[in-house]
Amino acid sequence: MRRVLFNLLILLILSWAWLTGTMAASTESEPMSPLAGQGRPLFLHYCAACHGVSGDGDGYNAEQLDKEPAELSNLKFIAKKKNSQIYRAIKFGGQGVKKSQLMPVFGHTLSEEELWSLVAYVRHLAGDKDHPVVLPDKTSKIRPATPSKPHDSVKAFSGWFAKNGKGSSLINRGEKLFRKKKSCFACHQLEDEGGLVGPDLSRAGFTYTPEWIFTWIGNPQSVKPKSKMPNLGLDNEECRAITAFLASLKGERIKKQWDVYLASAGDPVKGKKLFFDSEGKANCGKCHSVNGQGGRVGPQLSFAGTSRTKAFLLESILKPKAVITTGYSSVLILTKKGKFITGVKTNEDDSSIDLIDKEGNVLHISKDEIKKYKTQKISIMPGNFKDILSQDEVRHLLAYLGTLKLSN
Ligand code: HEC
Ligand code: HEC
Ligand code: HEC
Repeated sequence: MRRVLFNLLILLILSWAWLTGTMAASTESEPMSPLAGQGRPLFLHYCAACHGVSGDGDGYNAEQLDKEPAELSNLKFIAKKKNSQIYRAIKFGGQGVKKSQLMPVFGHTLSEEELWSLVAYVRHLAGDKDHPVVLPDKTSKIRPATPSKPHDSVKAFSGWFAKNGKGSSLINRGEKLFRKKKSCFACHQLEDEGGLVGPDLSRAGFTYTPEWIFTWIGNPQSVKPKSKMPNLGLDNEECRAITAFLASLKGERIKKQWDVYLASAGDPVKGKKLFFDSEGKANCGKCHSVNGQGGRVGPQLSFAGTSRTKAFLLESILKPKAVITTGYSSVLILTKKGKFITGVKTNEDDSSIDLIDKEGNVLHISKDEIKKYKTQKISIMPGNFKDILSQDEVRHLLAYLGTLKLSN
């Protein structure tokens, strides 16, 4: 008799757990307020990597973090908080509310209205109907544009860096900011530790010019408005120190036998022709655009000459798979009908994946049609330019890329 009762009890607990489980899952499809609807795409763009698409705290980047991203779909956790508390956590980041610095600051990137829309979406993810979010009066729709205290101009920075950039106490301060004080380590790897949202920075000093690092980290949106990297509100000193640290990370040098490519300069006019000649051997423009002209399969190269070092550009041409640009990894999809499809993933949501294939075709594939898919460690960019282009042709291309400056 006891045993029967016991079993019954277990059954009850199980079915209760099942019921609440399905109830929690069904909040996803419940209608949401227009404000929460405005927050949804922002959440998928800026937050899902850590917090997960449904807010369960299980984004692909979560495992990389020493502190677990909060479980925003957890009603108990969210219901305890005031709207203003959630707002402050998003606006000022973990550090601003005495939590982990791994939760980034978004108040330098998003408008007040966007921040409130995220609060509304977080409430929606938790299925919390008892704390409706109402926009306060006079909420600004304008994104913050510039840092409150201006940073050095690139020229002033350059002069300063040439004199002071290798100082070891400066580099140490930069490293501390990067690893402990700011959110950088939550999204970037150094020597196999850290986050996977942005590029691995173990070779930052080989890849980027110091001037570029300084410009970028001070305000990523000024160069790439849609970047997933938020503006972290660094002041001038912090930008200098972090740049000095990253510039000190050179990694391995390029292969010795490639030095001959850099030994003399090419002709940028010939390089431009090769780049865009659709009948030619290089035909880079099939996949890359420069100031709006060219294809979309690969990253745009409009300011490659400002942001990347010559050695890095050379490596990208001779051995594309050495580094896969963030956001351009190739995925391999096996459909239920047994077809293989590869391309660069441009978007993914709960129900579908968007791809651009090698030829530049845009494909929209529903997840119902997909049997398996995985990210590959190979590049969509052809790996045989080393063999089909002469040394001079590569030099011409490098010379052309070198002319592509930010201010153009
Ligand atoms: C790089 C990873 C990362 C990203 C991106 C991120 N978060 Fe977080 N978030 C965290 C971590 C880690 C915590 C836990 C902090 C703690 O408890 O110390 C957290 C905590 C939170 C909390 C709870 C704060 C509290 O008071 O307990 C909220 C709310 C939140 N995040 C919202 C967001 C929103 C909204 C976005 C996007 C705009 C976002 N997060 C983007 C990592 C991230
Ligand atoms: C929420 C995640 C996130 C945080 C936090 C973050 N980054 Fe990034 N970072 C990215 C992403 C994503 C990119 C790729 C840029 C792109 O193409 O949008 C990037 C790119 C970069 C780049 C290369 C820029 C280029 O030209 O491609 C540098 C350098 C960099 N970040 C440094 C930093 C530093 C320093 C910090 C801390 C102060 C930091 N990041 C914090 C996500 C992040
Ligand atoms: C079939 C498409 C395709 C062609 C043709 C192509 N690329 Fe690429 N390229 C890509 C893709 C995709 C990436 C990003 C993946 C990676 O990093 O390998 C890339 C990456 C790059 C990068 C690195 C960008 C960065 O900042 O991380 C450079 C530089 C580059 N390509 C230059 C060239 C040049 C020069 C040519 C012509 C000789 C060329 N590419 C031809 C597709 C192509």
